[in-house]
Amino acid sequence: MSDWKIDRWKFYDITHRRHMLCNPTSLSKLDDVIALLGLEPGARVVDIACGKGELLARLAERCGVSGVGVDLSPFCIADARKKLAERAPQAKIEFVQMDGAKYRPQRPESFDLASCIGASWVFGGHRGTLRALKGIAAPSGYVFVGEPFWIKEPDPEHLKFDELTREMFADHYGNVRIAEEEGLVPLYAAVSSGDDWDRYEMLQWFTADEYAAANPNDPDLPEIQEKMAHAREVYLRWQRGTLGWALYLFRKSASR
Ligand SMILES: C[S@@+](CC[C@H](N)C(=O)[O-])C[C@H]1O[C@@H](n2cnc3c(N)ncnc32)[C@H](O)[C@@H]1O
Repeated sequence: MSDWKIDRWKFYDITHRRHMLCNPTSLSKLDDVIALLGLEPGARVVDIACGKGELLARLAERCGVSGVGVDLSPFCIADARKKLAERAPQAKIEFVQMDGAKYRPQRPESFDLASCIGASWVFGGHRGTLRALKGIAAPSGYVFVGEPFWIKEPDPEHLKFDELTREMFADHYGNVRIAEEEGLVPLYAAVSSGDDWDRYEMLQWFTADEYAAANPNDPDLPEIQEKMAHAREVYLRWQRGTLGWALYLFRKSASR
């Protein structure tokens, strides 16, 4: 399934049309973390691979933060700007369309929260993401990531079929341990339930079907349907129950 003719951003835009969060976290679990953060008005946040900007929009609405969202998808950036204009028009939040790996803040170590949820490939994996976020978070700031983890050893057939390697992810303990090795202090983890995962995956099936009904003549349709059928098979045969997902919150240093 590594063969892509359709524009990737178009594909993800179609399959995530109904998602507010483009990851398997429920909105209530995200809200739990937001409540714990206790960010104050004027706090600065950067969200790398911000998707449709839901994290930043919630933080702007509830805590009055300012900051930056970075994403490579033009669809996501357009959605994020629209969402912010509707929900927190006064917020000083900028959305930038660029490769998150190339983002450089105006001031180093200046963000009260630096996040990257569900896109650790941008920095070469979980450890690389934690290092990159540590570099831009303020000395006592938060580092916030979302990362898959193996619940059990994956079936080799699963790895082959989905072009994954065992080394791509750690287990849940490993995700926290790697952060500790990088000098971060673990504060909280919100693990997605089976229901959270099901909703995230199955909403993609639903929206792809809606799109097919509304756009029967789109020349990309056969590829969209083929990719969705592949994803569905992977999820139902192996991934469900093998791969977990959590939001992980860390503090950059032990002292505030
Ligand atoms: C799984 S989604 C997560 C989005 C968002 N963080 C959320 O949780 O709702 C991955 C995101 O990474 C973005 N992305 C992929 N490669 C990127 C890159 N090199 N730089 C910045 N964003 C990237 C995609 O456009 C997509 O929005």
